[in-house]
Amino acid sequence: MADGRARLIGIDVGTSGCKTIVIDDAGRVLARHLVEYPLSTPKPGWAEQDPDLWWQAAREGLREVLPQIDDLSSILAIGLSGQMHGLVPLDGGDRVIRPAILWNDQRTARQCAEITDAAGGLSGLLSMTNNQMLVGYTGSKITWLRDEEPAHFEQLRTVINPKDYLRLMLTGERATDVSDASGTGLFDVRNRRWSFGLIDAIGLDRSLFPCAFESHEATGGLRAGLAAEFGLREGLAIVAGGGDAVIQTTGSGLIEPGIVQSIIGTAGIAATALADCPDNPDGRLQIFCNNSPDRWHCMGVSMNAGGAFSWLRNTLSAFAGRKLDFVELTGLAEKAEPGAEGLFFLPWLMGERCPYPDPDARGGFVGLTLRHGPGEIVRAAMEGVVYSMRDMFELMRPLGVDPREIRASGGGASSPLWRQMQADIIGAEVVTVAGAAEGGAYGAALVAGVGAGVWNDLESACSIIEIETRQQPDTSRRSAYDDAYAIYHDFYGMLKPQFDRMAVL
Ligand code: XUL
Repeated sequence: MADGRARLIGIDVGTSGCKTIVIDDAGRVLARHLVEYPLSTPKPGWAEQDPDLWWQAAREGLREVLPQIDDLSSILAIGLSGQMHGLVPLDGGDRVIRPAILWNDQRTARQCAEITDAAGGLSGLLSMTNNQMLVGYTGSKITWLRDEEPAHFEQLRTVINPKDYLRLMLTGERATDVSDASGTGLFDVRNRRWSFGLIDAIGLDRSLFPCAFESHEATGGLRAGLAAEFGLREGLAIVAGGGDAVIQTTGSGLIEPGIVQSIIGTAGIAATALADCPDNPDGRLQIFCNNSPDRWHCMGVSMNAGGAFSWLRNTLSAFAGRKLDFVELTGLAEKAEPGAEGLFFLPWLMGERCPYPDPDARGGFVGLTLRHGPGEIVRAAMEGVVYSMRDMFELMRPLGVDPREIRASGGGASSPLWRQMQADIIGAEVVTVAGAAEGGAYGAALVAGVGAGVWNDLESACSIIEIETRQQPDTSRRSAYDDAYAIYHDFYGMLKPQFDRMAVL
């Protein structure tokens, strides 16, 4: 029934802003609105936000986009997406007890170790959840609250993630979805249900955790007062939605095996959908439930991608005495030879999460000679980020992932040169798709459409996604890049003893 008549709303509550979009059933974006908000860092390494900021931003977004839609009765459902892993602590009256603790907060190293011990070590934890407990994950934040803010923990009755706070405001219901629940680190991802074994082992009350729905399932209807405010139908379905890192792959149409996503944003994300849930042998990858009920999501998140390149840009800009333009810099790199004449950039400027879980890893240039100039330096930085993306895809190979098409997104995808490097270094066609720029909001609108019956399933929903650009690998560069990648890949192991020595300086 793709006649452009059915409309769907997607709302993505991100870290720096909330995006609200309306799409039609042909996949066209009819209206969009972004409201930005700050993040607070009350102590070094902490990251918090007041959930009311998210709700006011979503409300403003709805008030802005809806007047642009001619017939509001054509809106069939709302889907939600959000920054993953954040702890939104609610009391018995569903009031927020303290500001939300976000995914990029670093305070819970001790709690992660304790949870791993309580699970019987890493192998015990992986057998229950198929994931490590990372400092960003919700589970370690809950036990931090118990350890460090007992008065707040006393009041705690429900734990939800950021997008679920919007649901609470829109419908009054406490609920989450299986992809965000996976990112708590307390979810039995293989069986798509809470890991009560782990929750019991760490002494938390099972009732803290709301029902985890599949992403397309309706979790409640729009409250009467809000329906009147927005001009929408009372009881309009709000579907479960998903965590942003997962649902943005859905919005890029990642359903079939062999299609992978590469996001070069501040962080780098390598992801794919899997038909089965494989074991995550050493926990280096993140394996979560996908938005499709019979698929899983496999992902590596590197802390160093566009962020490492921005550091170089800012540093060169400081020397130049003016802000160097991104296109100007990539233009310099374009003039340098592939392989940057033997110059390598090691991108681990922020420590690393994947492929090397090592906060002490450090970056660098290796192979400098008098022949190297700014073009080679910039080119090596771009290539280094792509070698790191390839490292993450290589980790997925034993799980049967063989990339044949890379869907590129994030700021890095705006550079044709960076996309071509991905094609050449990873060895697969690189495409960009319409809708990817909308981030999680687009995938959220698609799952809303499945929930509303516009499409029978996510596979049909994703079939409307249009490919905008295509770049094939250049076979003449392939073997030189394979050799260069092999050299790059060995650097971490060789330098690791030095990183350990440098960490105590
Ligand atoms: C995913 C992750 C981030 C946040 C940011 O594991 O940490 O992508 O979801 O929005």
